[in-house]
Parts: sequence; structure tokens; C-alpha cells
Amino acid sequence: MTGNRTFTMIKPDATKRNYTGAILEQICNAGFRIVAMKQTKLSSEKAGEFYAIHKERPFYGELVEFMSSGEIVAAILEKENAVESFRTLIGATNPANAAEGTIRKRFAQSIGENAIHGSDSDENATIEGNFFFSGLEKF
Ligand code: RTP
Ligand code: MG
Repeated sequence: MTGNRTFTMIKPDATKRNYTGAILEQICNAGFRIVAMKQTKLSSEKAGEFYAIHKERPFYGELVEFMSSGEIVAAILEKENAVESFRTLIGATNPANAAEGTIRKRFAQSIGENAIHGSDSDENATIEGNFFFSGLEKF
């Protein structure tokens, strides 16, 4: 059975370039309901914790520095088959390989600064949503 919730972050490159509104519009137009949402800024400690799964990867330091370099917009989203459907909407990690019309194709600059995050499993969607939001903040 697939779940109906995923977690996303609009990344610092996209908030800096003022794409937050356009990206949220595309997400809502694709039929996702916003369950929870906030703009915040991650410390490097918090960014490191969020991406701890990539600790051994060569790009980890760069990723932590980038994700703590500016504001992010975190959100929990709801739609049938949410994780897979949202990954399709955002496109490939490297915007050069992302399908036409996807969020990364439209708004991302590089494989590192790629505008948006999407959970890769139901289990991680729950963990990541709970990283940012308490029960009182989810509707
Ligand atoms: P995300 O977790 O942010 O949704 O991205 P993803 O699943 O498409 O890609 P993942 O493999 O989980 O990588 C996490 C983020 O690390 C940065 N990255 N940089 N320089 C590089 O080769 C490289 N590879 C990955 C990206 O910001 C990527 O989204
Ligand atoms: Mg990932």
C-alpha cells in the first residue's frame, strides 16, 4: 500500500531567486493539499542532521553548507500516491536530466542547487515531516 503524504523543502537557491510563489502554485495546481508549511532557516547542524543519510557522500559538506545558506520553505503535502507523484512533479536530481515542465527543469540551476527536495519513501516522508512539524502544526 502506498501512503498519501510526502514532505518537501523549497531550497535556498529557489527562495533567494523569489520562486517560492511559482513553485507553490505548481504544487497546488498538481493537486497536492498543504497539510503543514513554514519558512525557516536551517543551522548547519540541523541541515547536517536532516541529510545525515548522505554523510559519507563526497558532496555532503557542500550540501550542508548550501542548505544552511538561506531560507527554506518546508511543507507536508497530501495526495494519492504522494511520494512517487511528487518525485515525478519535481523531476530528476540533475535539472539537466529533468523532464520538460518539472519543477527542477523550470527552476533549478545545477545538481547541487536544485530548487526543491522530495521524500524518497513513505517512511522518510514521515521522519522528515516530524523533523519540522509538531502534531499541532499539521492540518
Ligand atoms: P532530495 O533528497 O534533495 O530530494 O534530492 P534527490 O533525492 O533527488 O537526490 P539525493 O541523491 O537524495 O541527493 C540529495 C541532494 O544532494 C545534492 N547533491 N549534490 N554534487 C552532487 O553530485 C550532488 N548530488 C546530490 C542535491 O541537492 C540533491 O538534491
Ligand atoms: Mg533524496
